[in-house]
Amino acid sequence: MPRAEIFEMGPRDGLQNEKRLIPAAEKIALVNLLSRAGFRRIEVTSFVSPKWVPQMADAAEVMAGITRVAGISYAVLTPNMKGYEGARSARADEVAIFASASEGFSKANLNATIAESLERFAPVAHAARADGIPVRGYISVVTDCPFDGPTPPANVARVAAALRELGCYEISLGDTIGQGRPETIDAMLSAVLAELPAERLAGHYHDTAGRALDNIDASLARGLRVFDAAVGGLGGCPYAPGAAGNVATERVAAHLASRGYDTGLDMAIIDEAAAMARAIRAGRE
Ligand code: HMG
Ligand code: MG
Repeated sequence: MPRAEIFEMGPRDGLQNEKRLIPAAEKIALVNLLSRAGFRRIEVTSFVSPKWVPQMADAAEVMAGITRVAGISYAVLTPNMKGYEGARSARADEVAIFASASEGFSKANLNATIAESLERFAPVAHAARADGIPVRGYISVVTDCPFDGPTPPANVARVAAALRELGCYEISLGDTIGQGRPETIDAMLSAVLAELPAERLAGHYHDTAGRALDNIDASLARGLRVFDAAVGGLGGCPYAPGAAGNVATERVAAHLASRGYDTGLDMAIIDEAAAMARAIRAGRE
């Protein structure tokens, strides 16, 4: 069976938007359960400004508390050098820098223009290379922006090329507000594939309009084999009005299986983790 991979986002993208400040112990329990599910990569937390995302203020505590399983890369977001220093101290296995394909979202999410954000990411990428820490890149609002409207595919390709030049080993393409459709995803991929091969791209689709699985199909057709998802379908970006959850890991895994792809995941553990994630959201954990 051909392989496809799900990069688990639940502890980071899934929880970052929750209003209730979730105790670190609950986040740690979720990561530890996810570590038994067969993922190769789990995004644990973000070393971002606690003024911007209070929910991620306990990043160091969560990273220190998890029980690491050999072979799993525990990833974190790093918007600047301050975040990178925190990630390195916390022994993150990989870091992610996150840019936007639109100026409106860049300003809202990073308080910077796209060019300024890339300037800020450059020292992070250089330091990570010197430290031997792999860097992943994100591009947000790849088809639609809540501030600037439809995103021209050429803008996504331009940012993808910039992240490639910074040394990102993989670039994850974010439909941040879940408004992408197979046609717009396909047009966007067509532009980005002129810059990077499909093996270096991932689909990161939020499911606001219920099209994420269709968008995954469009991406599979273009050769992508890595998809970001969050158990229980939790999440959303605090700086993207209307952003609903990531597409649910359990749905993506079932969907990929139905398309003939093996994700190597233990579905019983995934279901348990989805229930735990929902309980955390409901404040019942
Ligand atoms: P700023 O306010 O312009 O930056 O924010 P600043 O340098 O003036 O810093 C403000 C305060 O934050 C200062 O503290 C800094 O020290 C502190 P003060 O001096 O006022 O006490 N600070 C930090 N603290 C801890 N860790 C740090 C850090 N940096 C500064 N790393 C900044 C600019 C980039 C910091 C801010 O805009 C930020 O943190 N943004 C992150 C927003 C975020 O996390 N969004 C969600 C993740 S992205 C996402 O969800 C999309 C994705 O899923 C893909 C998709 O779906 O599209 C990835
Ligand atoms: Mg996201």
